[in-house]
Amino acid sequence: MKSNIILIGFMGSGKSITGKLLAYRLGYNFVDTDVAIEKTYKQKIKEIFANEGEDAFRQKETDTIKKLAQKTHQVISTGGGVATKKEDMQALRENGVVIALTAMPRTILKRTNNDKRPLLAKKSNEERLKTIIELMAKRSEFYKKADLIIKTDDTTPLKNVEIITKYLKGVK
Ligand code: S3P
Repeated sequence: MKSNIILIGFMGSGKSITGKLLAYRLGYNFVDTDVAIEKTYKQKIKEIFANEGEDAFRQKETDTIKKLAQKTHQVISTGGGVATKKEDMQALRENGVVIALTAMPRTILKRTNNDKRPLLAKKSNEERLKTIIELMAKRSEFYKKADLIIKTDDTTPLKNVEIITKYLKGVK
């Protein structure tokens, strides 16, 4: 079996919490690409966006992913934009099973109510919902390329882990 489990999906789809629980269950290391970027470059994601812009963030993300993809036995929770980058997904897929977590825009709106995410740092809920809908329309086709897709609107992170472990047993 490919040894890394790659979680892709929109911001607020539950990748980090599900990934942590899944890693614990499998006895794997948990890695969050945003946390890895923050450690390597000693800046918060929102500072990188503010100081250097989105393109610079994306380059750092790609460089980080290429390094991570070489290791094994990890659950890797990726930032919401990663699935759209061919280069990143090719590197991750070499040794990874790809699982997408999805959710409806209104669910995402509820789950992302903080200013940690530069792309959603809008003032009103209405503006944020509009951005979520627009970004999701561009990204859905990429999330659909996953080996397994889980709709998380009505699941819990533990339930997601159950679904994933069951799936993994079947692909062994
Ligand atoms: C982003 C998602 C964020 C983070 C950055 C950009 C995106 O990660 O990488 O703010 O483009 O969707 P999460 O999906 O973990 O929030």
